[in-house]
Amino acid sequence: MATRIPPTLALALAARAMGLNAIIVLEMEEELDIVIEQSSKLSVEPVIGVRAKLLTKIQGHFGSTGGKHGKFGLLAEKIYEVAKKLKALNKLHWLKLLHFHVGSMIPTTDNVFDAASEASDIYCTLVKECGAEMMTTLDCGGGLGVDYDGTRSCTPMSVAYGLEEYASKVVQAVQNRCDYHGVPHPVLCTESGRAMASHHSMIILEALSATPEPKDDDDEATTEQLHGRIRDLSSKLMPFKAETAAQMCMPSHAVHVKKHGIEMYKMGKKLSKRVITDAHTTYNYHMNLSVFSLMPDYWGIEQLFPMIPVSRLNEKPTHQATLVDITCDSDGKVKNFIREADTLSLHPLDPKLGSYYVAVLLSGAYQEVLSSKHNLFGGPSLVRVVGTDHGGTFSVETTLLGPTTEELIGTMRYDVKHDISSVIEEWARDKKVWEMVENHVENGLHTMPYLLDYRPPPTV
Ligand SMILES: Cc1ncc(COP(=O)(O)O)c(C=O)c1O
Repeated sequence: MATRIPPTLALALAARAMGLNAIIVLEMEEELDIVIEQSSKLSVEPVIGVRAKLLTKIQGHFGSTGGKHGKFGLLAEKIYEVAKKLKALNKLHWLKLLHFHVGSMIPTTDNVFDAASEASDIYCTLVKECGAEMMTTLDCGGGLGVDYDGTRSCTPMSVAYGLEEYASKVVQAVQNRCDYHGVPHPVLCTESGRAMASHHSMIILEALSATPEPKDDDDEATTEQLHGRIRDLSSKLMPFKAETAAQMCMPSHAVHVKKHGIEMYKMGKKLSKRVITDAHTTYNYHMNLSVFSLMPDYWGIEQLFPMIPVSRLNEKPTHQATLVDITCDSDGKVKNFIREADTLSLHPLDPKLGSYYVAVLLSGAYQEVLSSKHNLFGGPSLVRVVGTDHGGTFSVETTLLGPTTEELIGTMRYDVKHDISSVIEEWARDKKVWEMVENHVENGLHTMPYLLDYRPPPTV
């Protein structure tokens, strides 16, 4: 677990007291002080790991997780300082794990190899040079990709490898580096979530009606005219070509090139739409759907999912469709599909043949816990403030705390009492640590997941 939250930390320590192998992974240097303080307060010896901020960076939407500007983890030098500090306190044996996560949907096995090699070098330095000989584990984070568009390539919706290749690249990299440094091979573990969860569920949508999309009146340009406009645009970039290296580096030049690119892109989209509408009518299929609730990634980060009709599979689908949802929100529309398609092939609706369904596939990862339950952080506390009649003053009428962790877990359809608290209680009683654990479990479940009374470290 990764944490900078004292109550979560206390829970992790309570879990250790119960005999569970909870490992506290530090994401920031100052978290070490909190671990030291809390573990002495609870008289529990922690096992800790450190999250490395690797320089290896991946391309694509999730690339900003890695690299030296990444949001998470410690650069190698800082990790060695943590080891030094632990050594000075005679606690270096607490350090057992090195963790890294370079982002979701790692595009190629070269990235996998580079990241695992870099992390292994840090692991070996910790063991050999910092004296952290009790290190056992390299946690390779997540990132194993899912081939959403079926191309097994480096498109944004696919990755150019499968599970076997991914695993063997990690093993090869770690083995190479550890053998080179003469360090025993660590236990490898993975946190890959998307690849584990995507295939476990699909969303089945019912079509309610289908209506032909009216042709655009605002642009009567023919396909040939659009081709001409694109040719025109591309020749217009020439006069702005910077003549000197200094001009090339001017922000105005870069902004101009960007604007031009966007215009070209828009024109290209228009052209592809025109070619499609010339060829056939597009139908808007109204689906029993809220895009925001059921496919938030589609709306939020332009994630595409493979979709297919699951009715009348013995008939060729003849209509080109976009899907519109039943909410009043104009963004509630699915109009981009895998393999850069603007439409999805569906059958014409026919009530005599019964209901008509479309499946959104590979939707088992990340869709349920987005928006107002993101990472199980719920909505805010509410304060109702009303104006009074006396000189423009205000008074607080009611305050209502936001959902607790227990309530949020409940929304994932767990029976928290039955599935979680009573299991913990039984286990802790068995290990004779319930008195010590009880408060922390109560606190963990019955408060909001946001931080309370947190004192930020000084900005350096
Ligand atoms: C630290 C960490 N590990 C693992 C994962 C899972 O990543 P993925 O689902 O891409 O495998 C994430 C996702 O954000 C993460 O932040």
